Amino acid sequence: MLGYPFRPLLQAIEAAGGAAAVGEVKRRAGVPADRSYRMSEIYSDTECQRVLAAAGEVLDRGPEEICDLWAAAFLEDTQKRFPTWYAMCADARALLECHPEIHDGFAAGLADPEASRAVAQKFRIEKRERELIVHYRSPNRLCRLYRALAQRVIDHYGDAAGVEETQCLHRGDPECEFHIRWTL
Ligand code: HEM
Repeated sequence: MLGYPFRPLLQAIEAAGGAAAVGEVKRRAGVPADRSYRMSEIYSDTECQRVLAAAGEVLDRGPEEICDLWAAAFLEDTQKRFPTWYAMCADARALLECHPEIHDGFAAGLADPEASRAVAQKFRIEKRERELIVHYRSPNRLCRLYRALAQRVIDHYGDAAGVEETQCLHRGDPECEFHIRWTL
């Protein structure tokens, strides 16, 4: 995984448990204490999974809660760092439709074409009237993060929409499938 999402994850851990919690999470996850993630560098997917598991242990929170904390810090960071995307998108649907494109923009700068393809292949979006169907497949199995982010994007724009996950990698399905439906 690219380094960018690790940064708000560490910020969320620090906000919830202080600098000591970040140090302890890194220690338990086997991450060097001085690791500061570079936005456009690739880190192993297993590192992401270890950091998440360690965050749950150290903060004594379940995966759902950790992903919710992560999503809050993630969106706040994207709004500060990449305001143009928000300005270009008039509503939640526009941003949710184009987020794979945002990811691909980061991946395009990678020297390794395989790593770039891996980023590009995680999401596929079907666009229907009043509905987006999002297909997600990734070794990181971050559907909880996806749901929390999508709901926060919807709330940010004040859209009347909800997110339902009908297939899930955690249940043994071949992919996660999200249905985002607009009621107005
Ligand atoms: C300006 C807004 C955004 C930026 C700059 C951004 C950037 C990134 C980057 C660089 C990654 C790492 C990609 C990879 O290594 O595969 C990532 C991962 C991810 N993003 Fe975004 N993103 C944004 C918006 C969103 C939104 C709106 C959602 C969901 C509705 C989302 C969901 C995810 C998920 C679930 C992952 C983890 C993918 C995985 O490794 O399995 N992102 N994001």
